[in-house]
Amino acid sequence: MNLKKYPNVHVINHPLIAHKMTIIRKVETKTTEFRRITKEIAMLEGFEAFRNLKTTKIKIKTPLEETIQPTIDGSKLCFVPILRAGLGMVEGFTDLIPGAKVGHIGLYRDPKTKKPVEYFIKLPKNIKNMEVFLIDPMFATGGSAIDAVNCLKKRGVKKISFICMVAAPEGVIAFSKVHKDVPIYIGALDRKLNSNKYILPGLGDAGDRIFGTED
Ligand code: PRP
Ligand code: URA
Repeated sequence: MNLKKYPNVHVINHPLIAHKMTIIRKVETKTTEFRRITKEIAMLEGFEAFRNLKTTKIKIKTPLEETIQPTIDGSKLCFVPILRAGLGMVEGFTDLIPGAKVGHIGLYRDPKTKKPVEYFIKLPKNIKNMEVFLIDPMFATGGSAIDAVNCLKKRGVKKISFICMVAAPEGVIAFSKVHKDVPIYIGALDRKLNSNKYILPGLGDAGDRIFGTED
């Protein structure tokens, strides 16, 4: 797809991400490895998605002298995974920024309509003053991400980014129609959705593969 019309969309082209994505796409990759590599991809994506984080200067002492150096105040950041599959990426981000808060938005796609159904919301009380990174490995029709951003905006959140691993063009188009102001960081932009609204080539059902619930 031509991304020129979507300045909010950042596809992170990096051989390490591409390589690790190939491993988790494989049908034979089992839960333990799938989970480990999902976390690694999250960390690599974080490198790009957190590029514009504000730093504040603090005074420290090296073994040689006093100096003023940058630091990240994690307490003003909130990672919000969309349950369940988003949970697979959270630890990668909290390893990078341990001071960040974590909120949760529970959505599942109705098996018939494929529309998201909300079942759980728990966010920090002062979420509206925080910078929020919404997390979900899969971005298919875009319905779940659209609803999750609606939920955050309804609570007054001003600064939101969305980080996913695999996206379909259909999701990018639908999301950008409503939330063009929200930057999206994508590990791999795939071909299209199948008739069951799964991403092709994709990696299957991310939640099931992360949590081993496929059988
Ligand atoms: C998956 C995935 C996303 C959503 C993406 O969740 O983790 O949340 O589908 O699809 P969409 O862009 O078409 O909305 P699922 O409903 O399978 O729930 P789970 O994470 O609990 O498995
Ligand atoms: N959810 C998934 O887990 N995978 C897809 O391909 C689409 C939605």
